[in-house]
Amino acid sequence: MRSLARICLLSRISRAPVEVGDVDLSQIATASAAEFKLAATARDVRVEIAPSLKTRGDPRLLRLVFDNLLDNAFKFTAGRSPAHIEIGETLEDGRQAFFVRDNGAGFDGRYVHKLFGAFQRLHDVRDYPGTGIGLATVQRIVSRHGGRVWAQGEPDRGATFTFTLSGEGTTARPPVPPERAA
Ligand SMILES: Nc1ncnc2c1ncn2[C@@H]1O[C@H](COP(=O)(O)OP(=O)(O)OP(=O)(O)O)[C@@H](O)[C@H]1O
Ligand SMILES: [Mg+2]
Repeated sequence: MRSLARICLLSRISRAPVEVGDVDLSQIATASAAEFKLAATARDVRVEIAPSLKTRGDPRLLRLVFDNLLDNAFKFTAGRSPAHIEIGETLEDGRQAFFVRDNGAGFDGRYVHKLFGAFQRLHDVRDYPGTGIGLATVQRIVSRHGGRVWAQGEPDRGATFTFTLSGEGTTARPPVPPERAA
C-alpha cells in the first residue's frame, strides 16, 4: 500500500470504533503469512504459528497488526536462509500476550523507544525499504484495544514484538479486589 493510503488508514484507525468479538489469531496470522509467503517464493522462510491462539478483539484490525508485523519480519530476515518467524502466546504480568519473533537483522535496543513513532526507522532505507508507518499503526490498534506493544531486539540477532489486548485472556493471578484497586 502507498504511504499516503497508509497514513489515511492510520488516521481512520484512531477514530473508528473497535468492533470486538471472539477471534482466532492463529487463523488471522496464517492468512496474513500466506500472502507474504506468496510474495517470497524464492526464499526459504519458515513460519511457525502456535495453534488455537484465541482472544477477543476486532478481527479486521488484528489482521492489520499481523500484516504489519509480518511485513517487517519478512523484510528484516531478507538476509537469512532459512528465515525463522514464530508467532505464539506468552504471559506478561499474568496477562495473555502474543508475540512475533524473527531471526533477522534485529536492531540496537538503545533506540527501541523510537520504533513506534511514525516515520521513525532504525535501518537505512537503501537496505530495507519503508516509510516507518507500520509500527505506528500496530501501536494505534493495540492501544485502541486497551493493550500495549513493545519490542526486543539485538543487532543481527533478530527481533521480538509482543502485544497484549486488554479485557480478555488468562489471568494467572486473581483480579485485585475493588477496594485495593485504586
Ligand atoms: N522485525 C524487525 N527487525 C528489525 N527491525 C525492525 C523490525 N520491525 C521494525 N523494525 C525497525 O523499526 C522501524 C520501524 O518499523 P515500521 O514497520 O514502522 O517501518 P518500516 O517497516 O520501515 O516502514 P513501513 O512499515 O511503513 O513500510 C524499521 O524501519 C526498523 O528499523
Ligand atoms: Mg514496516
